[in-house]
Amino acid sequence: MIGRLNHVAIAVPDLEAAADQYRNALGAKVGAPQDEHDHGVTVVFIELPNTKIELLYPLGENSPIQGFLEKNPAGGIHHICYEVDDILQARDHLLETGARVLGTGEPKTGAHGKPVLFLHPKDFNGCLVELEQV
Ligand code: CO
Repeated sequence: MIGRLNHVAIAVPDLEAAADQYRNALGAKVGAPQDEHDHGVTVVFIELPNTKIELLYPLGENSPIQGFLEKNPAGGIHHICYEVDDILQARDHLLETGARVLGTGEPKTGAHGKPVLFLHPKDFNGCLVELEQV
């Protein structure tokens, strides 16, 4: 059911330092910071040949990244995103298997303007999983 790895999202305590590190030390193609007000994050997209990395930094109050960074002050992998062809079909299948979908269960528009859902990390080996319809 799942297809390509769309991105790995890493929460970072210092967005500029992390972007500089990916640009200079790792030699990656690093984009400009983008504020995603609907998601409470500022994102830097890093294009790799086979996938993307997203550096996440808290934006505004009640950012979902804030609590994560309090528990992981050095930063850490926040979620991984897999592509699916049909997000509603994927959701219904996952619910049948007993997996929990976060929020209302209805897809939201993600950082790339496509429908996304998040799956409970406790159901996926401690890893928050995002599904994105492509
Ligand atoms: Co994501």
